[in-house]
Amino acid sequence: MRFHVLTLFPGLFESVLSYGVLGRAVEQGHLGLELTDIRDFSRDRHRTVDDRPFGGGPGMVMRPEVTAAAVDHARARMPAEAPVVYLSPQGETLDHQKVAELADLPGLTLLCGRYEGIDERALESRVDRELSIGDYVLSGGELAALVVIDAVSRLQPEVLGEPASAAEDSFVEGLLDCPHYTRPQDFEGRAVPEVLLSGDHGRIRQWRRQQALARTWERRPELLRERGLSGPERALLSE
Ligand code: ADE
Repeated sequence: MRFHVLTLFPGLFESVLSYGVLGRAVEQGHLGLELTDIRDFSRDRHRTVDDRPFGGGPGMVMRPEVTAAAVDHARARMPAEAPVVYLSPQGETLDHQKVAELADLPGLTLLCGRYEGIDERALESRVDRELSIGDYVLSGGELAALVVIDAVSRLQPEVLGEPASAAEDSFVEGLLDCPHYTRPQDFEGRAVPEVLLSGDHGRIRQWRRQQALARTWERRPELLRERGLSGPERALLSE
């Protein structure tokens, strides 16, 4: 999968995406990462990218012709089926289902705004989709784009070492994750649940499922209402 990021701060992506599993995936070529500095498309000698808003008010707005030229540059280098996504609090809210949908695409061009945002005309003419990562305002689209890259990348089969690990994550089946334990067996008087030491993989699988159901019921009951419960799940939950 390929990502092309349009940003005023490419260094942010170079840094964050050099760590951990994503860093390895980029290094090994499983993820393509191209960074374009929107400022390179400014046409004046001061490399200006923004201007005051028509109608007055605080802050600055990113100029449409600079943004549009940066998007055109990315589009020419990305597969035709890779949409241009603008990160903003006005977009559709990201959830697991949307992440899974995006993960099936050959690539994504992620457009990051700063200041008060981008001139609406550039968004109308160049952007396919607008995505938000939640109902709060960040100081730019970069952290949101990193969230999208991380969530989408870990659904690529080559990115996480073990193919099973993404499949067992929270939300994959509409449930929160079960608790996890490692050594020591006793931590400050707290023991590891006995079933996990039993070696009985059938019982362990059943216990984990029951924990996931119970946690979802306690912490996010609306998820269970949306998803519904099978007969065996109903029985596990009432145990
Ligand atoms: N840019 C600023 N805030 C954002 C948010 N919540 N989601 C996506 N992009 C943003």
